[in-house]
Amino acid sequence: MLAKSPLEDKFLIRANRSVFYKNNNKLTIAYFPDAKSHYRLLTLKDSFEIKLFLSINEKRKIKDILKELCSDFSDTPEHALVQLKKILKKHKHIHPGLLKTEERQPAADKIDRKNLHYFSIANSINREYRSAKDIKKDHVDLLDYHLYRIKDANKQFDRNEITLSHIFRQPHPALKGSTYGRRIREELFRCRSPKGKTKILEIGGGTGWFARRFLDRLKNRNTKYIFLDLSPVLLKSQKKINFQHAKRISFLQGDGQRLPFKNNSLDYVILNEVIADFDVVKLDKNNLFKSSNGPKLSKAKEAILNYNVQIDDAPKKFLFGLGIVKLLEELKRVLKPEGTALIIEYGSMWSYPQAVKLKGHREYSVHFGHLKQVANALGFSCEMANLLDFLKFRKDVETLDSISFHLLEKIIRKRHLRVSSSAPTKEMLKNKLKTDYQKFKNLRFIKLKDNVAGFHIKEFKVAVLKKQKIS
Ligand SMILES: C[S@@+](CC[C@H](N)C(=O)[O-])C[C@H]1O[C@@H](n2cnc3c(N)ncnc32)[C@H](O)[C@@H]1O
Repeated sequence: MLAKSPLEDKFLIRANRSVFYKNNNKLTIAYFPDAKSHYRLLTLKDSFEIKLFLSINEKRKIKDILKELCSDFSDTPEHALVQLKKILKKHKHIHPGLLKTEERQPAADKIDRKNLHYFSIANSINREYRSAKDIKKDHVDLLDYHLYRIKDANKQFDRNEITLSHIFRQPHPALKGSTYGRRIREELFRCRSPKGKTKILEIGGGTGWFARRFLDRLKNRNTKYIFLDLSPVLLKSQKKINFQHAKRISFLQGDGQRLPFKNNSLDYVILNEVIADFDVVKLDKNNLFKSSNGPKLSKAKEAILNYNVQIDDAPKKFLFGLGIVKLLEELKRVLKPEGTALIIEYGSMWSYPQAVKLKGHREYSVHFGHLKQVANALGFSCEMANLLDFLKFRKDVETLDSISFHLLEKIIRKRHLRVSSSAPTKEMLKNKLKTDYQKFKNLRFIKLKDNVAGFHIKEFKVAVLKKQKIS
């Protein structure tokens, strides 16, 4: 066994994810002690300790850091080492996880990818995937949640369930200065251009910013835009945000899986990050066609048979997106011939739905392969694309990573400033924070194609469904 190196030859490592704020003679540190814990905040006042924290760099050995500190503080190496030992001891007991020593220099990328998966950090960015096998009956009733438990539209989308349309509601360099809602309109109308009087339904409009940007520069006065949502609080926000468009908008409270519209009455239907909230049923592959218990299970089995949904590769227990089937059946009924639906959500072409835990409720990733099979069986043409490509996102634009953002917000909030969720680039953040920006250390920026505001944006898919022309 190799002998342990003396302290001076080791490397000094700070918490995997930490953000520093240096103001006057104080250093505020926000950090996650480990992947499962809540963030912590502490303020240091001792100038030696502050300088020590600011000098940590995973490539430097302790002896090099101490040499620099000795020259800054006209100190002896022996005394500096004693001070360092005291600091290490203090943090070991009071702030575990903040500071530690290591024999070897850590591998460059080990920190982010392995130890702190983006979906396992605390609070609002906590998304924990579960397969059907692990789901108990403890799930929150989604109807009840949307009807009664959403209390504040902004808080909902700044904290509890951030969405891409919310992040990109303001012009953003990743969209070449455009906004999410506007880019969706351009691409949707490229798929099928509107003619004359046009009726658009948006199901699950969230705060209303998506629609606002969709409608902002839309000249066609013959457009009627209808919001349908379960949540009364969100409908109210949709109305408020879109007051400029009051003449062409209307509102309905209802369930997107049962549409209160006449047959052949709508030109477009849009669902952006909504279908993960729709009904799923848990099925047992071995007993699928043996017994029938309850209308939802019967309906799911019927759908699998009628639409020839491929489940050969399903695990023994699996989730099936029944709500999506109901939606597609409704779309077939309410869309005009050649009417088009745009559905955006996260999921994959092959994986079965997985429960994703968010603050206050759960939602379910989408099996887009099944969605396409059902859509085709219903007679839709169905084009699939990755959202990144569909909206022509600039994949190399770097934005503040979600953990830095989270920690920065904790520090900022203490100082009565707010940066609302917006995936800021370095430039955007500098403009927002002005001279304060320079006081932050250790902020990380990450390429959009890898992650944006905690999202693996690559997982988002777009389905464009067109109803056939009547011949
Ligand atoms: C994750 S949010 C997405 C909001 C918005 N589209 C966006 O991109 O920010 C889901 C939205 O769908 C609504 N919703 C959820 N289930 C619904 C259902 N069954 N019928 C209608 N609206 C629903 C929610 O109230 C909320 O407005």
